[in-house]
Amino acid sequence: MIRMTEKIKKTINRDKKIINTIAREPYPLVVAKGSGDYVWDISENKFLDFTSFISVYNFGVNGNAEIRRAIKNQVDKLMHPAFLDFYAELPVKFAEGIIDMMPSGFGKVFFSNSGTEAIEDAIKLSKLLTKKKYIISFYGAFHGRSIGSLGLTSARISQRENLGPFPYVVHAPFPNPYRPLSSGMDPDECAMACIEHIEKNILTKEYSNKEVAAIFVEPVQGEGGYIVPPKLFIKELRRVATENDMLLVSDEIQSGYYRTGKFLALENFGVTADIYTMAKALGGGMPIGATISRTSLGDVLSGAHGGTFGGNLVSMAAGLASLNYAKRNKKHLERMVKEKNKYMMKRLNKMKDEYGIVGDVRGLGLMIAAEFVKDKRTKAPGAKEQEAVIKHSFDNGLMLLGCGTSVVRLIPPLTMSMENIEKGMDIFEDAVRTVNTGMSRK
Ligand SMILES: Cc1ncc(COP(=O)(O)O)c(C=O)c1O
Repeated sequence: MIRMTEKIKKTINRDKKIINTIAREPYPLVVAKGSGDYVWDISENKFLDFTSFISVYNFGVNGNAEIRRAIKNQVDKLMHPAFLDFYAELPVKFAEGIIDMMPSGFGKVFFSNSGTEAIEDAIKLSKLLTKKKYIISFYGAFHGRSIGSLGLTSARISQRENLGPFPYVVHAPFPNPYRPLSSGMDPDECAMACIEHIEKNILTKEYSNKEVAAIFVEPVQGEGGYIVPPKLFIKELRRVATENDMLLVSDEIQSGYYRTGKFLALENFGVTADIYTMAKALGGGMPIGATISRTSLGDVLSGAHGGTFGGNLVSMAAGLASLNYAKRNKKHLERMVKEKNKYMMKRLNKMKDEYGIVGDVRGLGLMIAAEFVKDKRTKAPGAKEQEAVIKHSFDNGLMLLGCGTSVVRLIPPLTMSMENIEKGMDIFEDAVRTVNTGMSRK
């Protein structure tokens, strides 16, 4: 059981007074240090990490020794290279390393400092390279919170309220196999209905293909609820983009970098996009955003885009060390992600059969989630159940994050030991069982 101390309470109170924050999990975690599979708070409470700190620490909490060594070495040489105005070798080397991981035809990388910046760049690239103004994205999507990317985001009202208008975006429905557009629709039928909406409504009645620059998609919707679309949907998106001379942009900020078992999440669908955005895990714990485009798309005019801190050498050193580790351990990583997925999905499917509050379990690789419901038949979202499961798990030393309306993500570092994966699943199941019993007694 976690010990709640005065020190924790005081720190949280000071935080609430001064920090202008947007959201916090419903548990009082004040982090102090972390290593491998574990995190310690400021009162020495120890937690197993099933969050990867929002999908960042793919190779263990606080990166691994190799990443930390590269950071320390670089700090003593030069931190900020003013890459907007001067040349430096490290960003070039890192960009070459990223391109090495990409499908053929990709040869351009733009570096920024976050996911939302990577999306801003992709929006600008799409518009500048096609000379078209509109962008299609999806309901449930999360592409960031700066004003450009926020236009594409459509995960919850609280993120957009009072901030619009976003006149360059049109949203289309995203196929959710658990909650199809109409009851009884199978996943592929739902996928095709969403595609039909783009072709028969948006491109026929709203904006012509001469005006739509790109379609932005998350291969697996993240913040919107860890929704894995049918393969057919992504394949059809590629067709629609190609036939209408629009770019397909894959937002891999949460799902990329081996989270789904592949370097690019889109590889799971057998489709190649025209632009990819990456961030989060790409920096091995340091802030990085990257927008990676096909060479054939060309460059934007010098001066059309840039930023003071893109290409920061400490971030580049961390990213490169992390990428080198990933390349050396590629086969092992892929195999381990598959094995851990198999184990976790088996346990989750069993929980779905046993507990009334578990409506759906889903995921690709180690991008896994459970959706909670009040009633399996009506599928009414179980937001209270979700929160109670997260809190109970925290009290017993397991860190989890929510997403969507009533979904819990289970996203341990890819390198977590099998023993700790089992331990985490035991704590999670204990929470589900307890909440399930409590709820059914009411
Ligand atoms: C798919 C996706 N795109 C973009 C972003 C925005 O990234 P950042 O928070 O680094 O701006 C996120 C963050 O959660 C994300 O999951």
